Amino acid sequence: MQVLRRMNAAGIHRLCVLILLALQLGLAHAQSAATVSSPGAVLSVIVNVNDEGRPQYAIARKGKPVIDASRLGFILADAPKLERNFVIDSQQTRSSDDTWEQPWGERRFVRNRFNELRVRFTERNGLKRSLDVTFRVYDDGVGFRYEFPDQASLHTVNIVEELTEFDVVDPATAWWIPGGEWNRYEYLYSTTPLEELSQAHTPVTLRTDAGLHIAIHEAALVDYSAMWLRRVEGQRLKTVLSPSASGPKVVRTAPFTTPWRTLQIADSAGGLAMSDLILNLNEPNKLGDVSWVKPFKYVGIWWGMHLNTQTWEAGPKHGATTANTKRMIDFAAKNGFRGVLVEGWNKGWEADWFANGESFSFTEAYPDFDIEQLAAYAKKKGVHLIGHHETSGNIAHYEEQLEAGLDLYQRLGIDSVKTGYVADAGGIKAKAADGSLRFEWHDGQVMSRHHLKVVTEAAKRHIAVNAHEPIKDTGLRRTYPNWVAREGARGMEYNAWGSPPNPPEHESILVFTRMLGGPMDFTPGVLSLKGRDGLQIQSTIAKQLATYVVLYSPIQMAADLPENYEKYPKPFQFIKDVPVDWSQTQVLNGEVGDFVTIARKDRNSDDWYIGSVTDENARTVTAKLDFLDEGRRYTAQIYRDGEGADWKAKPHAIAIETREVTRDDTLTLPLAAGGGAAIRFAAGRR
Ligand code: NOJ
Ligand code: CA
Repeated sequence: MQVLRRMNAAGIHRLCVLILLALQLGLAHAQSAATVSSPGAVLSVIVNVNDEGRPQYAIARKGKPVIDASRLGFILADAPKLERNFVIDSQQTRSSDDTWEQPWGERRFVRNRFNELRVRFTERNGLKRSLDVTFRVYDDGVGFRYEFPDQASLHTVNIVEELTEFDVVDPATAWWIPGGEWNRYEYLYSTTPLEELSQAHTPVTLRTDAGLHIAIHEAALVDYSAMWLRRVEGQRLKTVLSPSASGPKVVRTAPFTTPWRTLQIADSAGGLAMSDLILNLNEPNKLGDVSWVKPFKYVGIWWGMHLNTQTWEAGPKHGATTANTKRMIDFAAKNGFRGVLVEGWNKGWEADWFANGESFSFTEAYPDFDIEQLAAYAKKKGVHLIGHHETSGNIAHYEEQLEAGLDLYQRLGIDSVKTGYVADAGGIKAKAADGSLRFEWHDGQVMSRHHLKVVTEAAKRHIAVNAHEPIKDTGLRRTYPNWVAREGARGMEYNAWGSPPNPPEHESILVFTRMLGGPMDFTPGVLSLKGRDGLQIQSTIAKQLATYVVLYSPIQMAADLPENYEKYPKPFQFIKDVPVDWSQTQVLNGEVGDFVTIARKDRNSDDWYIGSVTDENARTVTAKLDFLDEGRRYTAQIYRDGEGADWKAKPHAIAIETREVTRDDTLTLPLAAGGGAAIRFAAGRR
C-alpha cells in the first residue's frame, strides 16, 4: 500500500481507491491504512503509518486534499516517545445520527450525525504499547482524539508534548491571536498569510485562496492542557501544549482520552459559525435537571470602575455601596433586567489587587455594603444579585474559600457568579500536591481541573458560572450547562481603557474565531460610546444594539451607566426587548473580519431578530427574510445607522423605523463605517 506523504488530490484519490479495493478483495488484514468518510460523503479521513511506522492522518473534502499527511503521537517524560514503529493493529467503524436538545443555546435542537473510525496503533516490537485514535467525521468537520488504553507498560502517562500536526494544503489567510503571551487571550486578532503565523491560541480560522474556510480548535478540554499551534514550516502547524510548573504538561492515569482535536470545514465563513461540531463532541449533560439555569440580561456596578469614576475598593469613590446597589436594583427592576452584578463588594481590593490575590475574602463584605439587606431588597424587587469572585489568579487562596463563598451566595439566593483570574499568563498561583506554591498557566492542566471544580461546586448549589480570564471555551456547556459564559477575548472593557481600543473589525472577527468555542460575556451596549476620559468607542450606536444578536451569550450585560441609558431611551428599548435564548440561528451572510449578519428566533416567542455589523468600511447588506415563519406577518422594528452615521464623525446617528414584512421580503441595510443594524421582527397575525 502506498505511503501517505505530501500527496496531491490524485494521490489521495488513488489511495482511497486502493483501500476500497483492498477491502473488497478481503485484504483488510493488510491494515496499513484506514479510511472513513462523512455521512454525506463531503469529508474523508485517511489514516496510516509511514515507512518508519509513524501514525499520520490526512483530510480531503469532496475529493480534494485539505490537510496533508500530518503526524500523531506523544513525547513522554519517563518512557520512549509514542510516535514511530507502529502498525495498525485493528480498526472499527460505526455511524451515529441523533438529535439532542439544548437547555439553552443558539438553537434548541442539535443534530449529531457522524461516521466514526477507531484505529488501534500498536508498536511492532519493544514495549509493544498500543494507542487508539478515534476520528468522528461530519459533513462540516472532523474531530479526533487519542485514547490511552490501560496497559502494564503505560499506566501513568507523563506527557511532555503532544505531536499532533495540521499540515494545511492550500495557501490560506489566517486570523489568530498569539499563544503563550502574557495577556492570555486578550489580543487583537492578526490577519496574515498562514505562512506568517508564529504561535497561536485556538480557534485559528483560515480561509484558503480558493475560499474554503477551516477553523482548528479543540473540544472537551478536560483534565488536560490546552493546545496551542506553532507553525513549523510552510503551512504546517504543530501542537504545543500549555506548560505546567510540575514538569510534564499533562499527567494522567490510563485509561483516559485526550480532548478532541477539531477542524470545522465549510465553503463559507457562515458555515463555520453554523457548525455544532464542538458541542457535539462534548459529553451530554452530566448535571441532570438544569431548569434552574436561567439565561438572563443584567446590569451592574462595573463600567464606572473601568471608567475610573468609581473604585472596587472601599473609599470615597466606592462603587459597591448599599445605596448605589439599591439604585441599580431599582433600575434593573424598572427595565426588566433579571441580574445585577456587583463588583468590589468584598474585602481585599485595597492597593494593587492585581498582585495581591491572597488578600481577598469571599465571604466578608466591606462595611458600606449590606449584603443581607441588599439580597432581601433584590428579592423583593424580583431581581437577582450576581456574585463576583475576582481571584487575581491565586487559586490556592480561592480554593480554600470556594465552598464557603458559594454557600454564602446560595443562602442569599444569588444564583450566578462571575469569576476572574486577572494575572499574567504563567502567573496563576496554585498549590502543588506537596503544599508548595507553583506558578501555572491559565490554560494548563491545573486550570482545566480548577474550572471544573468551581463549576461542579457551583452546580451543587444551583449557581451558574461566568469565568473571566478563563481557560478557552471548548463546548463544556453541553456537559455542565451551568457554565453559562466566559470571557477569553478582548471584550468591552478594552473600549474603556484599551490602547488601542477594539477596532471596528473586532466583532466580525470574533464571530468566526473566539465564538466558535462558545458564548462570550462581551458586555455590549455602551450607548454613550465613550470610554475613560472620553475615549471614543469605535462603533455607532446601532452597532452596539446589533452586538446583542451577533455575539451569542445566554447572559448579556447592558454595560453602560443607567444615566446613559436614560439619555438614549429609544435605542435602549432594543436592549430591553432582545432575548438571550434562541430556538433557531441562521448566519445570513458574512466574511471574516469584514461583516456578518445573523438571524435568531426567540426561544420564548415567535419573534425573530437580526443583528448585522460591519468593520471600518461602510457597506450595504441585504437580508432575505425567508427564515421567517410561513404565512405570518411581522412588524419589523428596525434600528439602523442614520443619515451621515460614522463611528468617528457621527456615531449617534440612528434611524428607528417600523415596516410590515413577511418571509417574501428582502431588507436592504445600509451599514455605516463601524456601524450595524438591529431588527426585531414582532410576530403578528397569521
Ligand atoms: C477583568 C474582567 O474582565 C472585568 O470584567 C472585571 O471587572 C475585572 N477583571 C475585575 O475583576
Ligand atoms: Ca478581562
